[in-house]
Amino acid sequence: VLLAANWKMYGSPSQLAAYCEELLPKLEGGPHQVVLCPPFPLLPQAVMLCAGSELAVGAQNCHWAREGAFTGEVSPYLLAEMGVSWVIIAHSERRKLFGETDDTALARAKAAQEAGLSVIFCVGETLAEREGGETLSVLQRQTAVLAGLDPQKLVIAYEPVWAIGTGHNATPAQVAEAHAFIHERLQELTGQAVPVLYGGSVKPQNAGELLATPGVAGALVGGASLDAGSFFAIIQAAPVAGAKG
Ligand code: 13P
Repeated sequence: VLLAANWKMYGSPSQLAAYCEELLPKLEGGPHQVVLCPPFPLLPQAVMLCAGSELAVGAQNCHWAREGAFTGEVSPYLLAEMGVSWVIIAHSERRKLFGETDDTALARAKAAQEAGLSVIFCVGETLAEREGGETLSVLQRQTAVLAGLDPQKLVIAYEPVWAIGTGHNATPAQVAEAHAFIHERLQELTGQAVPVLYGGSVKPQNAGELLATPGVAGALVGGASLDAGSFFAIIQAAPVAGAKG
């Protein structure tokens, strides 16, 4: 099972130090794959603190070029050279607030994989789209670009936008339906089985049920990942059967 912490625009050097001090010993020898995605400036510290531990480090975005005149952007090659191994691409906040499109998301994901990073690619419908009965067609469109990616370095995160930061997680039935659809799509597009994470108000109280839902290979956790204790409680709720190494 893969459990990824998306810190979004939260955290500080002192918080990161305390977090790793609490979490790293608990992860030792654990059965799951765990990734921490803090803001860019905390990445060097995270890489240093997590070296030799069970916690991998990921970024929350990257650019599609190796380098260039792109003020404020970060190259995936820089991330890879620094020891970052994962990157989140196309988070719904990037799509909604920062102009991310299916095409720019694909360009970022491609470049990230070429730089050697593994990609957590986010998809998910808005409330209006769900209420309009468009959930599967939105997922169809968002996944259509993924055919060109390396399935070995790809994980999909299904994050219904209406469940993010709202405290309203999707029901296991909704999650199972979306995950089955995404699985089938990715199999068709890449010829391989690609893991699908669920994200959206995952908390210690609902993690067990969500992570046991068919087709759920792990979770992408926002708010509840900011506290080492609650993130570890989510990790502990993950089923060990079928865990990755
Ligand atoms: P919350 O867990 O805070 O709902 O955020 C989910 C998310 O967007 C993770 O990427």
